[in-house]
Amino acid sequence: MVRPERRYATRTALTGLVFCLAAAGCATDIDNGERDAPPAADARSPAPILVAHRGASAYAPEHTVASYELGIEQGADYIEPDLHITADGVLIAFHDLTLERTTDVEDRFPDRYREAEIRGEMTRVWPVSDFTFDEIRTLDAGSWFDPSFAGARVPTFREVVEVARGRAGLFIETKSPEVYEALGFDMETLLLGELAELGLAEPGADPSTPVIIQSFNAASLEILRHDHETRLPLALLVGGEEAASEWLSEEGLARAAEFVSGIGPAKNLIMADPSVVARAHALDLTVVPWTFRARSPGEGFTSVEAEMLHFLEEIGVDGIITDNPDLYPATRTAEGV
Ligand code: G3P
Ligand code: CA
Repeated sequence: MVRPERRYATRTALTGLVFCLAAAGCATDIDNGERDAPPAADARSPAPILVAHRGASAYAPEHTVASYELGIEQGADYIEPDLHITADGVLIAFHDLTLERTTDVEDRFPDRYREAEIRGEMTRVWPVSDFTFDEIRTLDAGSWFDPSFAGARVPTFREVVEVARGRAGLFIETKSPEVYEALGFDMETLLLGELAELGLAEPGADPSTPVIIQSFNAASLEILRHDHETRLPLALLVGGEEAASEWLSEEGLARAAEFVSGIGPAKNLIMADPSVVARAHALDLTVVPWTFRARSPGEGFTSVEAEMLHFLEEIGVDGIITDNPDLYPATRTAEGV
């Protein structure tokens, strides 16, 4: 499992936390040659896809079975687990590198914190990677959202697959693999290993449970495509201005097309330059933006429904990632996109 060399040289934003977790007691602000082209199996879908972001996370605590179940009930084509790795090497569905925002870890393990500098202030954090899965499993991952969800547990990745199997696809995000590499874990190998054991490692293996892997970490996706030679669809997430300059230019898109089948830009990046969609499509790259939320529609939109409709029908994206799957426009008229 331990890799002899660092593979994520292009990623620097989380360097502080890498050292924090690999040693102890420091931190950073967290939240968040010639190559063959990707296989034809990655070609764009005939109709836009609806992705339930962290489940139906507007209505249930993110990354819990309740949230994923609700996302599927609300008609999502895919649910979206983010991946982290516990101290004993278990892949779990969880968003943050640390446990305190969405669990009761502070109450349950008050002494197991590290000091971290977050947005200029020293703060106590409880990293996922400091806890075994059995410890994490004891945490309440629901009460922070609403008392009615008290006792909700952090699921393993396998449990999320079982929720989705036969009912929805999996839009899986590798989160901060460089942090876990510094701790001796190989997220891509773990993920593909579990998918293989579950019979989902090949495109079309289970048509009722399609799999797409996404990441902000381009190196993670290159490793999946080129080192592991996966044929699964891969999507490069693009967040800030810096990443947009790197990946949404003509040259950036062309380079991305060497190892991914789609891009996932923040919706504001598409609003700033909608031409990126046509330019991506010209390279046969899908475009699935994030994150559409009823509580914060984009500037200029009176509702998230109107915003989603604009992206689908006017801009022509290939899918929508939303906390509110129930508000997805009923008429999916962008057939053939
Ligand atoms: O699918 C893209 C979206 O999930 C990325 O943002 O921070 O919610 O993982 P985040
Ligand atoms: Ca995510």
